[in-house]
Amino acid sequence: MKAQSLSAVFAGFFFLPGAVAHPGMEAVLEQLKAQDCCDSTELLGDLLYLHPTDLTPVGRLIEGILTGTTGGESDEPNNSVPELGSTACQADTCCVWQYIVDDIMVYFQDRHGQCTNAARAAIRLGFHDAAGWSKHTGEFGGADGSVVLAPEEAQRRPNAGLQQIIAQMKIWHGKWSSFGISMADLIQVAANTATVSCPLGPRIRTFVGRKDSHIASPEEGLLPSPFDEPDFLIELFRAKTIQPRGLAALLGAHSTSRQRFIDATQFGAPQDSTPGIWDVLFYNQTLGPTPNNVFVMESDKKLAKHPRIHEIWRTFARDQARWNADYAREYVRVSLLGVYNINYLTDCTRVLPRAVRFWK
Ligand code: HEM
Ligand SMILES: *[C@@H]1O[C@H](CO)[C@@H](O)[C@H](O)[C@H]1NC(C)=O
Ligand SMILES: *[C@@H]1O[C@H](CO)[C@@H](O)[C@H](O)[C@H]1NC(C)=O
Repeated sequence: MKAQSLSAVFAGFFFLPGAVAHPGMEAVLEQLKAQDCCDSTELLGDLLYLHPTDLTPVGRLIEGILTGTTGGESDEPNNSVPELGSTACQADTCCVWQYIVDDIMVYFQDRHGQCTNAARAAIRLGFHDAAGWSKHTGEFGGADGSVVLAPEEAQRRPNAGLQQIIAQMKIWHGKWSSFGISMADLIQVAANTATVSCPLGPRIRTFVGRKDSHIASPEEGLLPSPFDEPDFLIELFRAKTIQPRGLAALLGAHSTSRQRFIDATQFGAPQDSTPGIWDVLFYNQTLGPTPNNVFVMESDKKLAKHPRIHEIWRTFARDQARWNADYAREYVRVSLLGVYNINYLTDCTRVLPRAVRFWK
């Protein structure tokens, strides 16, 4: 609805003979540009106070992604690495990550090439670690590994269902910790590996170098509940610098989801009829008609109809590429919440497997 009314105004400028720019025009153009791309454009962490001349190439890249001038997807795999343990491998921060990604990828794809329960859990875990942060929590919480490292956080109610993947993260971390990796990075690399392990899933730019915290995220109430009202959820995400369109894009992760604890009588019921595929059916089936075996969360149903979200929801329902681009950009943001050394991270996107772009 919003996009339509804006383009009507936009068209007006060009088809009205003798139209002259007036003060509102720039604002309208600005908004149009944002409509085209995304609506979350705030900087995060150290990028908020670093002087432009102090930015590293990674700092500049991430600044571009966060402000909407650079995409969050990248399709240039280079999975060839020197032998693990060699001097050459030690000299390259991303090298060990190639071995880790190859190791965990096996858990994320079934023999039909679709993504598994471990994959959906890893995607959710990435979100739940990072989402323990808001603009009001300061330099605490966020993508710091605490969802695994602080037992109290793991036991919180919204994290029900994540115990198995948390245990698995500890095993993987134990196996690779002698290479100096952080739990926070393992969680986010696993989330991005899981996403691209789903057919049609985006290949999200992936950074490493986060610091770990054993302290549980500061307050409860930072994670969403499926029984929250849409306006509350919109504000909850805004406090994490995620605007409504960004929220709509992120919710598409429920394309690969299966609920177990909202309604135990429908244990394992998926949120669209193809939970092994990163497709846009979730957007369609949330609006309805909904197939019998599909469970639509109350929060998804209400957000899909919310005036700030409905139009973009319908757009995602018919535009896989649009959704993937928006999701990837927004998830890069999620993966950096509460990270205060963004300028010094390393881009290891190349170690991710190639995206599966077509599915029967
Ligand atoms: C309004 C925001 C959200 C709410 C209320 C919400 C709520 C839920 C709930 C209740 C479940 C089912 C848990 C269970 O019964 O096992 C779930 C699953 C899941 N969610 Fe969300 N979620 C939200 C946003 C997100 C976001 C932003 C992501 C990722 C970026 C995400 C990824 C997932 C995934 C992948 C699953 C499946 C987990 C599994 O099958 O193990 N969710 N979510
Ligand atoms: C891939 O990465 C290796 C280093 O791990 C490098 O030597 C090689 O040139 C790269 N290949 C391409 C095609 O960029
Ligand atoms: C959802 O899919 C059905 C069946 O293909 C189609 O008729 C309907 O228009 C779709 N809805 C949206 C919002 O794209």
